[in-house]
Amino acid sequence: MNVLLIGGGGREHALAWKISQSPKLEKFFAIPGSPGIANFAECTENISIEDNTALVDFAKANAIDLVVVGPEAPLVNGLVDALNAAEIKAFGPSKIAAQIEGSKIFAKCLMKKYGIPTADFRIFYNPEDARNYIRQKGAPIVIKANGLAAGKGVIVAQTLDEALSAVDEMRNFGDAGNKILVEEFMDGEEASVLALTDGEKIIPLIAAQDHKRVDDGDKGLNTGGMGAYAPAPIVDAKIAAQVEEKILKPTIAALKSEGIIYRGCLYAGLMIQNGTAKVVEFNCRFGDPETQVVLPLMESDLLELMNACAEGNLSDKKISWSKDSAVCVIMASGGYPKFYKKNLPIDGVAKAKALGAMIFHAGTKLKGDELVTSGGRVLGVTTTAPTLREAVDKVYKCVEVIHFDNVHYRKDIAARALK
Ligand code: AMP
Ligand code: GLY
Repeated sequence: MNVLLIGGGGREHALAWKISQSPKLEKFFAIPGSPGIANFAECTENISIEDNTALVDFAKANAIDLVVVGPEAPLVNGLVDALNAAEIKAFGPSKIAAQIEGSKIFAKCLMKKYGIPTADFRIFYNPEDARNYIRQKGAPIVIKANGLAAGKGVIVAQTLDEALSAVDEMRNFGDAGNKILVEEFMDGEEASVLALTDGEKIIPLIAAQDHKRVDDGDKGLNTGGMGAYAPAPIVDAKIAAQVEEKILKPTIAALKSEGIIYRGCLYAGLMIQNGTAKVVEFNCRFGDPETQVVLPLMESDLLELMNACAEGNLSDKKISWSKDSAVCVIMASGGYPKFYKKNLPIDGVAKAKALGAMIFHAGTKLKGDELVTSGGRVLGVTTTAPTLREAVDKVYKCVEVIHFDNVHYRKDIAARALK
């Protein structure tokens, strides 16, 4: 098969690494790709991943059999619909199905209508009504903008004052801020369960836990994710069964009842407390950095599975998993998720690899022959080992040999599971 991968972050590097192991793979392309992905695929940087017409033309010109879409933006932008209209197979949901991430209101209303467990919520179209409701309910309470706000449109307010000013902040999210979602605060521990689906059958992947806050001890600002590990012991067999039966299957069935066939990866962000899982959010794609710990443990052929999702014949497929644990530590630019410097030389990647790490490039570029930083999240360093403890010890040995100025990473990835 000739495959085109869309995206260029750490998640896509992990996807590229795994896809490249498939005996079914022939030619492999990526747009835009990255210096890491370039080890597996021919990268083309001068086509925008928002330009559906140019992407369809590229896929036709290169006889692509399957397009794998990594990030949410092109999914919400209808790339899969455009490809399918040109009779090109794609892994990822259609524009309308991607609303499960693209519109929090769509997702919440779907869950309410079909009894899928999630926090209670109300939708407001003007700030004054939202403020009145918040005064009634009190804090803690959660305020959300409606659309894709690059992970920043959510404010978990611990006090009434914070909640009231959060309503004003929603104005900063443009269109996404015109509709305000006010949600019940859920206490508990978070986990991510990703699943592959062809719109009928659903196969959950092993559960992972992300670390969203920038600093140790879950302090500081929310980020795209500072590290992850898998399997996450908080998702024990009982929770896993509950997630499959009460959340994943009913969601795919609910979408189907609404006339929407969801194909691709469905990501359930969960809050788990007292043996019960509720949905925090759905994403319409693989998680980043969850993918960087889930795929290193997958023993099955990912390309074959993705192709089966795209063709609607996942029913005879199974996934086998290594018994190991995996940990990923994100090495970020100091200052992220706010302002940070770019173009800083990165040293030690080869040394870390020699110590047994997998290095996934999230925000790097080549300046001549030199690898430099080019984003907030720069590298994901993943290791696997028979136990989580060993994987954690190994990952930090590898992280310590990599250097760039102002590097920031969390020192407590997986600490909760090790307690
Ligand atoms: P979201 O973008 O909806 O996943 O929200 C980002 C983060 O905000 C989540 O990962 C949670 O840590 C937190 N969060 C969102 N909604 C709630 C809620 N209803 N209760 C508690 N925390 C929440
Ligand atoms: N790790 C969080 C996300 O992918 O949205």
